Amino acid sequence: MSYSTSFFTALAAAGLLLGSCNNKPAGTTGNSGWEVYGGNKQNNRYVDLKEIDSANVQQLKAVWTYHTNDADSNTQIQVNPIVIDTVLYGITPKLKLFALHAATGREIWVYDPVKDTVGMIDPAAFSFNVSRGLAAYKNGQERLLFYSANGKLYCIDALTGKPKRSFGDMGRVDLHDGLGRNVSHLYVAGTTPGIIYKDLIIVGMRVAEEAVAAPGHIRAYDVHSGRLVWTFHTIPQPGEPGFESWEDSLAYKHVGGANVWAGFSLDEEKGIVYAPTGSAVYDFYGGKRLGNNLYANSLLALDAATGKRIWHFQAMHHDVWDRDLPSAPVLISLQKDGRNIDALAQVTKTGFVLLFNRQTGEALYPINETAVPTTGMLPGEKLSPTQPIPTFPEPFVRQHMTINDLNTLVPDSSFQLIKKKFESIRSAGMFEPPSKEGTLIFPGFDGGPEWGGQAYDPQTSIFYVNANEMPWILTMVDNKTDVGKKEAMGAAGKRLYLSNCMSCHGPERKGAGNYPSLLGIEKKYNDSSLQQLLQTGRRMMPSFRQLTMADRKAIAAFVLNNNTISKATYTAEKSESDPYFNLPYVATGYNKFLTPEGYPAVAPPWGTLNAIDLVTGKIKWKVPLGDYPAMKAKGIHTGTENYGGPVVTSGGLVFIAASSDSKIRAFDKLTGVLRWEADLPAPGFATPAVYQVNGKQFIVIACGGGKLGKKSGDSYVCFALPDK
Ligand code: HEC
Repeated sequence: MSYSTSFFTALAAAGLLLGSCNNKPAGTTGNSGWEVYGGNKQNNRYVDLKEIDSANVQQLKAVWTYHTNDADSNTQIQVNPIVIDTVLYGITPKLKLFALHAATGREIWVYDPVKDTVGMIDPAAFSFNVSRGLAAYKNGQERLLFYSANGKLYCIDALTGKPKRSFGDMGRVDLHDGLGRNVSHLYVAGTTPGIIYKDLIIVGMRVAEEAVAAPGHIRAYDVHSGRLVWTFHTIPQPGEPGFESWEDSLAYKHVGGANVWAGFSLDEEKGIVYAPTGSAVYDFYGGKRLGNNLYANSLLALDAATGKRIWHFQAMHHDVWDRDLPSAPVLISLQKDGRNIDALAQVTKTGFVLLFNRQTGEALYPINETAVPTTGMLPGEKLSPTQPIPTFPEPFVRQHMTINDLNTLVPDSSFQLIKKKFESIRSAGMFEPPSKEGTLIFPGFDGGPEWGGQAYDPQTSIFYVNANEMPWILTMVDNKTDVGKKEAMGAAGKRLYLSNCMSCHGPERKGAGNYPSLLGIEKKYNDSSLQQLLQTGRRMMPSFRQLTMADRKAIAAFVLNNNTISKATYTAEKSESDPYFNLPYVATGYNKFLTPEGYPAVAPPWGTLNAIDLVTGKIKWKVPLGDYPAMKAKGIHTGTENYGGPVVTSGGLVFIAASSDSKIRAFDKLTGVLRWEADLPAPGFATPAVYQVNGKQFIVIACGGGKLGKKSGDSYVCFALPDK
């Protein structure tokens, strides 16, 4: 940890003093916080601050930078920090929680969960995950912070930075517990923070996307004791509504996913919490989970006090394209037919905005169940003949890619290659079934929109959403095995690698992004150290304790290229993986459709920021977001893939980083004209927080890089206007 001095160190000292005597609630003249992940519980990323406006935004300067000093080659910081009173709380790449003076960046305390081994049974087995932020509970003088690490929900006293030992088991509750089945060996992590309602912290989680995964039930804990108060089964159990949407009445015991990984929004007055869910696993083959699979890919409205379902909407039936709802809905008020409606806006990865009445779940405009193609399904698969398609507002990304949309900015030889590839795959639309020849996924696995969320300006009814326009290719391969089947260890290992390891380490074991290459791994690991790794997992690498010993041996033989063991005989034993997880087909991984130069195979834009007027349903403006240096040099603004969301202010601006070119920008919120941009030390794949301390407005962005082939960063950078 370090505090890097800014040009106004004097203010740092002042911040200290003011911090203790100026604890005014948000909204008063002094301090206006960003107290909740996403800005507020409506999740609208809107702040009523106008010191910074279109006229002076060009004068913004970095006023402090906080280095966490714990980034490494594949870490990220996706954190949207929060600010309470005069203190900013954030999280480091290695999941340390910290408190800074929000005006100066001066460190107050740091809590390191790795070092907090009090009461830990196995302190060595700490599992890391990417964190997006934290939640804060305020009651009188009491301030408690909640965030997840190591598959656990931690409760930390905001004033001291010390764990609240009376919460759960010595200050934490294990998110593996209480899911109705033993998932202690499975990957469970809290990425997006939970949300506070009265004395409850409501949480979702990330689970594995392999065949074997934990169920994504939503849970609420008492903020003081850590007691589990309610659970909502996102995969319904016998007797619960939605159970009938699974053809196999035992599937609920085995199938996982349908998890809320993108956070929540909350109507505090109505006491309703809104939860978007992801798909059920296995993501790409649904033959073992026939039916519509409620409440996967659904928006759930639950009674926040009891967890009882009020309404739901399933945005994708029986998903086999990984079309999770990618962010929590934004609560909005909207004029329609002369009435003001308490509504919400939910985006889909495919580029739709769904508008509902918040209380009743009634769609504000027709959403039509529309016939979709189901020919050429993989054997055993049964896709839904219809999918819901909204009629209003207009979609904010291209939703279909034809041969005429291929990228022509590359040399003709490259163009011919992508054209040939395009002609060999299935590309008829966004509901083309997964296939062995390859199925185009456009918009891609990462949207459309992503977890950064969207902003809504209540003054103008304009909705701001950034999006990716990247084609991906989903290719399925054979995978089936039967108990008692004999084959060579090496062959079995290869097959098991496809279904257990490939989605992260790639079909050719080359890795990608944060997933390391396994080529040459035999120089680093022997059979026993690899077995150890598969037993325990490490950080984002899950444990594989659920596999049989024979399976793990076969996988080790394959990845270590151990010729002796590879030739031995493998006999498939009955394992937990039967019969639900012994999948006949698996995907070859998450593969982007790129030109040989590494550009998206589709014509630009590749990343956009969009302003949608929710009264007219029309896109008011659309701009490319981010640049590729080589294209920019030719005067072509393509946009880049982007992760992290926008913030809109009453000062007339939309702030956003998110692009891969390490910039933060401010756009005129009415016209989309670029008003300001600044360089960041690493891409800001996160959503900025905008707040005010003692009348002065600040914008802070986490610069963690570590995605899209960019180097990792370790800083939070804060901008403000120079002192007058
Ligand atoms: C959910 C994604 C994911 C899956 C699935 C996964 N891994 Fe990993 N794996 C990772 C990540 C991330 C790391 C890096 C861990 C770290 O940061 O220490 C890793 C690290 C490793 C390493 C160590 C690499 C090194 O250089 O030290 C090996 C070996 C490995 N994985 C093998 C496997 C095998 C074999 C499987 C399947 C049985 C598998 N992994 C499945 C994500 C995954």
